[in-house]
Amino acid sequence: MERVVIKIGGSLLSGSQDDVLSYLHGLSSALAGLNNYSLGFVVGGGDTASKYVSLARELGINEYDQDLLGIMATRMNAKLIASFFPDAWPEIITSVDDARTLFEHGKIPVMGGTVPGHTTNTVAALLAEAVGARLVNLTNVDGIYDKDPRENEDAKKFDRIDYDTLISLAAEYDSREARAHFVFDLLASKVVARSGIELHIVDGRDFETVKNAILGKPHNGTVVGE
Ligand SMILES: Nc1ncnc2c1ncn2[C@@H]1O[C@H](COP(=O)(O)OP(=O)(O)O)[C@@H](O)[C@H]1O
Ligand SMILES: [Mg+2]
Repeated sequence: MERVVIKIGGSLLSGSQDDVLSYLHGLSSALAGLNNYSLGFVVGGGDTASKYVSLARELGINEYDQDLLGIMATRMNAKLIASFFPDAWPEIITSVDDARTLFEHGKIPVMGGTVPGHTTNTVAALLAEAVGARLVNLTNVDGIYDKDPRENEDAKKFDRIDYDTLISLAAEYDSREARAHFVFDLLASKVVARSGIELHIVDGRDFETVKNAILGKPHNGTVVGE
């Protein structure tokens, strides 16, 4: 069975309670019926992580412990998904090795972060590498642009880019701080590049696109590949 790792951006689980509820209901219906795929999920920390990381920063708490707080937030989001999606393994998986073992047994692992210094993008890239999966990154932007579309009205979206282009964009935004904002960070980009992992960056709220990306069909997002 074809394997696909799905990264759910924490921003998609942020905002009001109603926002998050309607997002989770929408996503679970969009994913229903994908029984011919072996799926694994990695979930980001969103505004729960931001809240704790910025509190910690203000308190002068070191970056390592800021990251640990962020990881705890990702695991809360992961637990929500793992408990709500009917076929997911209900326990949060905390290492890529354990997630691989579940994949090998035909189960659906759900992870948050793993260790300080690694984003959930990186965890998703490593999991895709370990199990030989394609990677679909659900986020709050509809693809990769030549510059941050939130700050540049004239930013242009790429339908397809190669790994070197991804790496140079990620390098521009690489601060190594918890909750830094680039759609796919530098270390994660280097992992997908070294293993030739096909990466799809899609708007996680556009369920048609999400589904097409999982199925390997043309879609509205950006494909990163050779
Ligand atoms: N060149 C770029 N192309 C696309 N998004 C970019 C770019 N540079 C910065 N970004 C920012 O990355 C954000 C997505 O990452 P992030 O906010 O961390 O979401 P998540 O972790 O939920 O996927 C976008 O909202 C966008 O502002
Ligand atoms: Mg992010």
